Amino acid sequence: MYFPLYRPRRLRTSETLRKMVRETRLSPEDFIYPLFVVHGRKVRHEIESMPGIAQVSVDLAVREAEEACKLSIPAVILFGIPKKKDLKGTEAYSAQGIIQQAIRAIKRELPQVVIITDVCLCEYTSHGHCGIVVDGEVHNDTTLAFLARMALSHAEAGADMVAPSDMMDGRVKAIRDLLDRKGFENIPILSYAAKHASVFYGPFREAAESTPQFGDRKSYQMDPANAREALREVRLDVQEGADIIMVKPALPYLDIIRKVREEIDLPVGAYNVSGEYTMIKAAAQQGWIDGERAMMEVLTAIKRAGADLIITYFAKEASRVLKKG
Ligand code: PBG
Repeated sequence: MYFPLYRPRRLRTSETLRKMVRETRLSPEDFIYPLFVVHGRKVRHEIESMPGIAQVSVDLAVREAEEACKLSIPAVILFGIPKKKDLKGTEAYSAQGIIQQAIRAIKRELPQVVIITDVCLCEYTSHGHCGIVVDGEVHNDTTLAFLARMALSHAEAGADMVAPSDMMDGRVKAIRDLLDRKGFENIPILSYAAKHASVFYGPFREAAESTPQFGDRKSYQMDPANAREALREVRLDVQEGADIIMVKPALPYLDIIRKVREEIDLPVGAYNVSGEYTMIKAAAQQGWIDGERAMMEVLTAIKRAGADLIITYFAKEASRVLKKG
């Protein structure tokens, strides 16, 4: 059917018509809201490079989770800033660790909120790497037991889902095995399966205080140039028992989200990371872009590419826009 018989503009003549034929619809249920939890009480420490996002103590983290819940956001993902960092990331798997406290507090007040926890050592190690360093190198197999122990301590504290983001080989299997042995066979694993060594994590590292003190993460996170390898990583994690597959970052990696969506029948997540948030906020603050529309367009694009779930610092703001209609 060609012009003039067919005119695509006919279905664009009013907002109502456009809504009727819209292919992708965002909803607050698509979002997962990240929280950075610190020790103390009534602490709210704004992250300079992420306007609107703050490190919060457990009491305020509960309020943040409550607010998200009221906006129909089903889940939060927790990142912890420990009191003390050391070579083995001890606080990561301590029952009294900051994340374990936050999980218990949120669960107590808001049992309906799905609590996801980031499983990775970088916030807890003195060198800021995601694993245990042996002879100057992030040692894969030594790290696995630590990650599994960390995931287990989150499950024991009441987490609903664990999300390994370290990029060690074999960590999904190591976590699954230990959770199953300890009776947590029903706790799903959201795997950061295709996680690239991205410059867009910069602001997060300020928020999580997790900048590596030597070298970089390129020996474990993926080369941004690789899409076939991303699919290989994803298949491995599916075989190891992942329940949800994640691609990270989101916006510069929409092609990979699409490929994973087409090949894998598990739910697919995407992490709209800190740098993606910061770019929009910075441009909007300058008056150089309409921040609200940019936010909605980017989130719609991530969903259109194939993501079922989106971890995003915009979760609350976008949900407010969606509620307005
Ligand atoms: C931990 C982790 C990182 C992010 C999520 N989990 C940082 C990193 O790998 O350096 C980044 C999230 C963001 O930028 O918003 N490994």
